Amino acid sequence: MGRVLLARDPNLDRDVAIKLLREDLKLAPEERRALFDRMQQEAKASARLAHPNIVALYDMGEEPGLGLFLVFEFVEGPTLEDRIQKGPVGVEAAAELARELGRALRTAHAAGVLHRDIKPANIILAQSGAKIADFGIARIPGSTLTLSGGVLGTPAYSAPESILHGKFSPASDQFSLAATLYEAISGRRAFPGEDSVTVSNRITETEPAPIAELAGVDRHVDAALARGMHKHPEARFPNAEDLGEALAEALLYKPRAKMATLPDERRSREREHRASRRDLTILCLGIVLGASLMASVFLLWPSPAGQNAGPTPAGSAVRGSFVEADAGAPASAPTRP
Ligand SMILES: Nc1ncnc2c1ncn2[C@@H]1O[C@H](COP(=O)(O)OP(=O)(O)O)[C@@H](O)[C@H]1O
Ligand SMILES: [Mg+2]
Repeated sequence: MGRVLLARDPNLDRDVAIKLLREDLKLAPEERRALFDRMQQEAKASARLAHPNIVALYDMGEEPGLGLFLVFEFVEGPTLEDRIQKGPVGVEAAAELARELGRALRTAHAAGVLHRDIKPANIILAQSGAKIADFGIARIPGSTLTLSGGVLGTPAYSAPESILHGKFSPASDQFSLAATLYEAISGRRAFPGEDSVTVSNRITETEPAPIAELAGVDRHVDAALARGMHKHPEARFPNAEDLGEALAEALLYKPRAKMATLPDERRSREREHRASRRDLTILCLGIVLGASLMASVFLLWPSPAGQNAGPTPAGSAVRGSFVEADAGAPASAPTRP
């Protein structure tokens, strides 16, 4: 409904983006009034926000022959929608987008502003980072603007509670952000469909297809996206920044490198070698033990009378467990058991 022009501010010597109502639409007076109100709403919402990832409003005015106009900072770069047409944005870029947009949206919510139309076409990719534009249907507290008839926002990114009950909240913006990031990561719509009825049914009844494998990322990416797009708003993340953080972490997660493995043949040869060394050690130990046992038996074996190496006092117990001399028996004649 509007036109956005690149313009030059000669006083401050800088480029600006001017948003005007299109004059060629031949609008009925009440439609023109509604759009005028919408632009004023956008101006008020934008004026409340100052964030590096939100397009800044510089000024607003009305000129005869020009109508109402809004002056924004000029953001050079394609929209996210343009970028996605070339394919997925890549893992690192998606993580950065998730963090930037999550923080920006949380800031808007903290200032009491709901965007209500977060989608790839409303995000501009500047050199310095992504910027949320188009607070055209934003809602701010105390505003009286209501839009009669028609669905607010774009169905493909709308939360189920917005489609079914016209409910908007920070959680419904979070849903739209999750659906936008899903598309940035995978290059596919979270809820595809030829027409808005099919899309709306998908959003209210089905879960988006998992994309972690397709995008070559950890499965926690699907878990974070699923939570951001949960059918029940209370089950989503507490705020948009938390969604952005969880998603960025999951996207950048790298499992620890696996331990280097040896080729099978080499491994089994090493195992055999270790086993034969162990067998040899056991054998040597056995020989040494056996020899010591025999030596002790030989040394301890009681000698026949008279041949005893040393004197054995009468009545004393002879070493070993065999003999306990009988008090009356001759000391030198022990009996074998
Ligand atoms: N501040 C800006 N700087 C540069 N381009 C802009 C700016 N704001 C809007 N645009 C361009 O104009 C398009 C339409 O702007 P948007 O605010 O989304 O209006 P609409 O209500 O028509 O969707 C954007 O997709 C973007 O390409
Ligand atoms: Mg737009």
